Parts: sequence; structure tokens; C-alpha cells
Amino acid sequence: MSVTSPLRPADQTSVDRMADPNWWRQAAVYQIYPRSFADANGDGIGDLQGITAKVPYLRELGVDAVWLSPFYPSALADGGYDVDDYRDVDPKIGTLEDFDRMVAALHEAGIKLIADIVPNHSSNRHAWFQEALTAGPGSPERDRYIFRDGRGEHGELPPTDWESVFGGPMWHRVTEPDGQPGQWYLHIFAPEQPDFNWQNRQVREDFLTTLRFWSDRGVDGFRIDVAHGLTKNLEGALPTKAELDARKHATDGFVDGSHPYWDRDEVHEIYAEWRKLFDSYDPPRTAVAEAWVHADRLARYAHPEGLGQAFNFDLLLADFDAASFREVATKGLDEAARSGASSTWVFSNHDVVRHATRYGLPVTEHPHTGKDWLLRGGARSEVDTELGERRARAATLFQLALPGSAYLYQGEELGLHEVGDLPDSARQDPSFYRNPGKEIGRDGCRVPLPWSSQGPSFGFGDGGAHLPQPAWFADYSVQSQDSTAGSTLEMYRAALKLRRELQTEERLHWLVSGHEQVLSFERPGGWVVVTNFGNEPVDLPAGEVLLASSELNEATLPGATTVWLRH
Ligand code: GLC
Ligand code: CA
Repeated sequence: MSVTSPLRPADQTSVDRMADPNWWRQAAVYQIYPRSFADANGDGIGDLQGITAKVPYLRELGVDAVWLSPFYPSALADGGYDVDDYRDVDPKIGTLEDFDRMVAALHEAGIKLIADIVPNHSSNRHAWFQEALTAGPGSPERDRYIFRDGRGEHGELPPTDWESVFGGPMWHRVTEPDGQPGQWYLHIFAPEQPDFNWQNRQVREDFLTTLRFWSDRGVDGFRIDVAHGLTKNLEGALPTKAELDARKHATDGFVDGSHPYWDRDEVHEIYAEWRKLFDSYDPPRTAVAEAWVHADRLARYAHPEGLGQAFNFDLLLADFDAASFREVATKGLDEAARSGASSTWVFSNHDVVRHATRYGLPVTEHPHTGKDWLLRGGARSEVDTELGERRARAATLFQLALPGSAYLYQGEELGLHEVGDLPDSARQDPSFYRNPGKEIGRDGCRVPLPWSSQGPSFGFGDGGAHLPQPAWFADYSVQSQDSTAGSTLEMYRAALKLRRELQTEERLHWLVSGHEQVLSFERPGGWVVVTNFGNEPVDLPAGEVLLASSELNEATLPGATTVWLRH
């Protein structure tokens, strides 16, 4: 593995870190889903003032940056990923002044802020979309989105039979200003999320304005939602859904940029333009792409002349197994070295079943994403919660020792589980409503955090919680784990602190472990990491124990445990 960045000396102060243009390369980034983090005014919805109040918690946790999921005005048709106005704050969760205060408090604590940008689609309440509806077919207003006439004698059939990501058709028919059924618009996601036309120069200019707006307000970086979707080719005869499915590479998409709406080569022209804007700031603004593309094509997004970094979801998708983890780590580091980026490691986010739960699911389940469980919903009794947490902690200590940046999702530091059995009436996710009886959606990882063991909404706020919290949340609360030796929270705190001290060059060296289910590697400076993925204890290698994910017995490393040692 090659060294791709200057050293980050262990004694670097937080002031240096804030000014360092390479701060992102090995950062621990904590994702906040704002409506479920902390509620300052007791209306049941997490808000920006709630985040500001928890900055001391984030500082103590030891994260380098916060990635804030969308906080813009939104009807929440898709949890805020349906944006009404890209340059404002949702009045339900705060104001621009609250935003400024939050940024100031984070920066004061030495924590960067990464804002979530949603460029593929706006919401259907966005002023431009409303103008497009009123202006009618052929108008410049309509050209900012993707409107087409339908097929069939009266245009009554959608332009293609493509299916949206959340289920149902990818086209929605509008009523024209004259009251007649008219054109159709494209929405890769929900109908409330019309896709922009990125060939339109106004769209491009407007996003540059947005990126400047937040950069000027102190935002340090951006997470780019659906970065692989922006450009489309809808000219000529369009393929059917069956034709697209047939051409899809077995597991991970198209390899040649020929898909009409995913991962087209032209998308990188957009990011090259963004990069110029990002680099006009000091330190340059960073960006990380959410791009579910073929592994061979991810480096284009992570290129230094593009977004600079891309999410690598392979660890999230891997079995809890030594060979799989080693393969993913090796591949991820190689890819990062190729693009000049650093790798990213992710186990949980707001779209997948929490990893403490995934790792405790019966083996008949899809082991990685918990997809089957997510599809039908599951009770807590089906999960081996103890095993899941134990493995999750071991996996996390493995992750936090890898070169590159680690993306953590709010609540994972508590070992929190998915709430798989929310009542249907409480659910909010469009993938639940658009797939009746087939999918339960992603609300189970978005339930408001438990801060205390009693009280209304377990300390989330003075009122209720917008998604119901189960009684067992009490056992996972911050209060119950704070200063409790051996708690998951204390393990995260210790690991993040040590990581800052131990992390230097972006390199690792695999060691021979002598066991099929044991992985061992060394980072420069004598930091040795050993994970036992098996069930049986193995001998503990020599060295000073710095941290372990479960209690060690004498000289053995128990199953599903990671230990950090110093040689
Ligand atoms: C991304 C987000 C997801 C959202 C979708 C549409 O995948 O992570 O939450 O539903 O984009 O914006
Ligand atoms: Ca609130």
C-alpha cells in the first residue's frame, strides 16, 4: 500500500487540524440525521439547536467532523432528501442563524461540518418545479426538469416502463395549465422528487451558487447524494426495463457508462467544475460521493479533480468473516491509492439496518444489509442482540484502525439496534408506502436517540419522539453508558482518542495470524490490530494491550473480538 499523504503527526493540535487541507483523509465522520438526534424545543422533531447543545458530547466522543443529513425546507416525502429550497433551513428544525451558531460551536470544538447536497432531484414543492408546471410544455421553465410526452395515442402511457428506486413507475403524469392530462416527468426516486435536467445551464449555475452559499457560511465539505445519477441520456429509442436488467453486470451495475441514467461519463464534467469552486477556498472544501457504481468506476468520483472521495460500501456489504474483511480492506486501499483519495469505511447509515442488528440476524437472513429483515420487518426476539453487538464492536475497532476515513452513524456508538417492529401507522419512509406489504422501509434506523434512561422520549427532548422509541432503548442510552467501564460508548470514546494519537501514514501491513478466522495487521509506529472473527478463543499475540472490543481472558483473544496492541 502506498503512502499518499503527508504524515499527520500525533501531536497535531485541533487548531492545526482545522487548517490542514488534508484533514479529511483519515477523519472520523459522525453522521447526524437531524430530525432524530436531539430536540431542543420539545416538539418531537430533532433540530439544529439540539445539535448545538450536544457539541460537548461530540467533542468528548472524539469525532473530527459531522456529516449533517438534509436540513433544508422539506415536506419530508423522503426524510428531507426532497428539498424545497437549497439555501435555507427547514423552519421545523431551525433558522439560518441557528445554523451559523451550530457551525460556530462545532468549529470551536475542533469539529468540521459536512453538509448533504441533493443535486439529482429537488422536491415537487421547489419554486422551479412549480414554475415548470405552470409554464407548460416546451417552456424554458420545464427544461430545468425532465419532461417528456407519453406514448400511446393520447400520451397516456409513460415514456418508458422504468421502475423508480422506491417502487412504482419512474414517470409521473402532470395536469397541464389547461386542466388536461399532459406530459410526464422523470423521478428516479419518489414522485415528490422530480429529477433535474443537468444539461440545463441554469441548473448548473444554481448549484454552484448553493455550494458557494454554504461554503461561505463555513461548511467544510459536502456529501453528494446519488452522485452517479445526475446526467441522463434520453435521446433516441430508449431501452425497456427488461433490456436494462439484462445488460446489468451481475452484482454491481454497468461497467461502461452506457446506462441511460446511472453513472454516465458526462457526470464528471459537473464535478470538475465543482472542484474548481471547492479549491478556491482555504482549506479547500471536501466532497464525498454517494455513488452505487461498479467498483472499477468508483475512482472517477474519488479523483482529486473530481469530488475527491467516494463512499466504499463494501465493508457494509461484507460477511463478518476474516477472508471477506481482508479482501475488502485490501481492495479499498488499492482503489484509494489509484485515485489519490483515501478510502472510506462504513457499516451503518440512515439507509441500512444498523450493524449491531445485522450481525445478530439468523444466518438464513441476508447477512450483510439485513435486506430480508428490512423487507418484511422483524421483532427484536429474532435477533441475537448480544452476538450482534459483540461483532459490531469488533468490526468497529477493525474499521477505526484502517487507514482512511471512517463514517459513523448516530447511535452506533451506543450499540443501538434497528427498531424492526415499528407499527405501520408510525412509518414515514416512502419505500414502505410505495411497496405495500413488500417493504418496511428505513425508519427503523432513524428512531430518535435515547440520551437518558427515563423521562419523555428518553431525553431526546421534553416532548415525544416523531418515531416511537421502544422500551429497550433505556438500556442503550447515553446516560446508562456514560462512565460505565466496558460500555460501547466508552469503547468508541477510547478508540477515537487513541486513533488520533496512533494514526500516521495511510499504510498497513498484514501479519500472519496463524488462524483462518483471525486477521492481524500493523500500522506504522507499532500499532497492531488483531480481530478474531471466529467463535473460539485464540492465543493473544504479544504486545501492550491498548484497547479491546470485549473483555479479554488472561492471555486469550475471545471470539468476535478485536484488540489493539502496541509492539
Ligand atoms: C440517497 C439517500 C437516501 C435517499 C435517496 C434519494 O440514497 O441516502 O436516503 O432516499 O438518496 O435522495
Ligand atoms: Ca424540535
